[in-house]
Amino acid sequence: MTESILVAVAWPYANGEPHLGHIAGTFLPADIFARYHRLRGNRVLMVSGSDMHGTPTALTAEREGVKPEVVATRYHELFVDTINRFRVEFDLYTHTATPNHAEVAQAVFTNIQKNGYLYEKTESMPYCLEEQRFLSDRFVEGTCPICSFQKAGGDQCDDCGNTLDAVDLIDIRCVADGSVPQFRETDHYVFKLSAFSDQLSEWIESKEFFRPQVRNMSLSMIRDGLPDRAITRDIGWGVPLPSQVEGYEQKRIYVWFEAVIGYLSASIEWAKKSGDEDAWKVWWHDPDAKSFYFIGKDNTPFHAIFWPAMIMAGAGDQALNLPYDVPANEYLNYEGGAFSKSRQWGISAGDALDRYDSDALRYYMAATMPETSDSDFNWRSFLARNNDELVATLGNFVHRVLSMTQRNFDGVVAERGDQDEADQEALDACASAMIDVATQIEERHFREGLRLIMALAQTGNRYLDTQAPWKTAKTDMVRTGTTLSIGIEMASTLRTLMHPYLPDGAEKLHRSLAGAGQLNEIGWTNPTPSAGTQLPKPLPIFKKLDDEMVDEELARHETPEGSQAS
Ligand code: MF3
Ligand code: ZN
Repeated sequence: MTESILVAVAWPYANGEPHLGHIAGTFLPADIFARYHRLRGNRVLMVSGSDMHGTPTALTAEREGVKPEVVATRYHELFVDTINRFRVEFDLYTHTATPNHAEVAQAVFTNIQKNGYLYEKTESMPYCLEEQRFLSDRFVEGTCPICSFQKAGGDQCDDCGNTLDAVDLIDIRCVADGSVPQFRETDHYVFKLSAFSDQLSEWIESKEFFRPQVRNMSLSMIRDGLPDRAITRDIGWGVPLPSQVEGYEQKRIYVWFEAVIGYLSASIEWAKKSGDEDAWKVWWHDPDAKSFYFIGKDNTPFHAIFWPAMIMAGAGDQALNLPYDVPANEYLNYEGGAFSKSRQWGISAGDALDRYDSDALRYYMAATMPETSDSDFNWRSFLARNNDELVATLGNFVHRVLSMTQRNFDGVVAERGDQDEADQEALDACASAMIDVATQIEERHFREGLRLIMALAQTGNRYLDTQAPWKTAKTDMVRTGTTLSIGIEMASTLRTLMHPYLPDGAEKLHRSLAGAGQLNEIGWTNPTPSAGTQLPKPLPIFKKLDDEMVDEELARHETPEGSQAS
């Protein structure tokens, strides 16, 4: 049965360069998942875009003395470029400053208002006397009342992940000038999040397959009591309220309220561009469609609580599908410390791609993906995994099979003769891997899926060692041909299995196996070139890296305070 799969990827703020944390945390798992489902023949829609609004971007723009759209557009373009270079295949990667997004966001606001889940409230908000303006969200900083982190924002604490209200911040100060703001009254629209507490907790309880950290965080937030939340702001950069709302001309919709609507607006934008403007509906209205939200753990409250509540409040003209799963990742660190723009710690995705192949980086980040706990990107283990695993296990197996076929059979796939137990085991390993890797990817266990692929390559190397075709070639060409033909079947299987993870390598291997046409078209099958097929000269798939690269990379920066240089 063809399934409809929506792959929804967190919208990065357009206020900084894409770094490897964005790739490992959200883009890569989403891409592996989407590529797999496309191969399966499922109807996949993968969307995201740059989160153009919000105070982080507005702040950067103020510091630079330019308009927010200048900053947002600059970084949006960088994200587009990085996504392409990493071979992350979106159906649409857009941004939230489009007229379509504003229209859809305003319609959602109106729907929720009509349904009685918005009310107006006079709230006390920090006001900077120096600058004579209200300070929303990241324009203030203070100590988190929950975990005591000293640089919590007015909307969320980046340390414990809880959503916050500026009034509750301890030692609140203006980020721009350090002054202590005064609290002044201002009118805002508030979303009745509290009304969905029971429905949300029932829904999350039913999601037994949610990752434990997602489930636990969401349930504990509900248990602590969900407060209603203001969804408008005294700020100029953002989506204006619907035109029928009076008195809010100078205010904007809260960035989180509109950004999560991006999943819907991007689906609609994609449909319009596809020529069938209703095409998005199957993913959003068909109850059998499944949506997967690939996000970082700090985004959990907004995807497992806030957005589902908006959907429950009747965000769409017709009922919209709730998320099926929210497979949030933990963080990727860099050489023992958090990626940080302000501390200049980490490496931009563009720099990494200037020096290394996208497959090598994808391999390493998929193998160490922070699925269950934070993980560390470090150059020494990148080198080891590239050289020992990608090159010495996977690349080497494929190279051995293909080069021995060239040497002994002029590159022509041989007929198979009688098969022994080792042959049968090798063929069984292929069949099981096709099933087991699929299961792991479907269950969003990407690290384990990749481990199984490497295990098949290892099995392949052991199989060659056992059958020793370089020895049998001196005495028994039928035996040699059988071994190499079975080796070619293993390589064909690896070609398919590695496509979601290592698209460039899979493509090269596909061509080395005389595979014609698009790899996408063969589906989740492992067609093997038949006896008599002439294989082209094999292409090298992966590159060995020089040991010196580790020191070269480490020399590019200082180590963060308190951590050891390795
Ligand atoms: N811009 C947010 C961040 O980088 C994520 C927004 S995801 C969305 O943390 F769904 F709200 F768009
Ligand atoms: Zn905190």
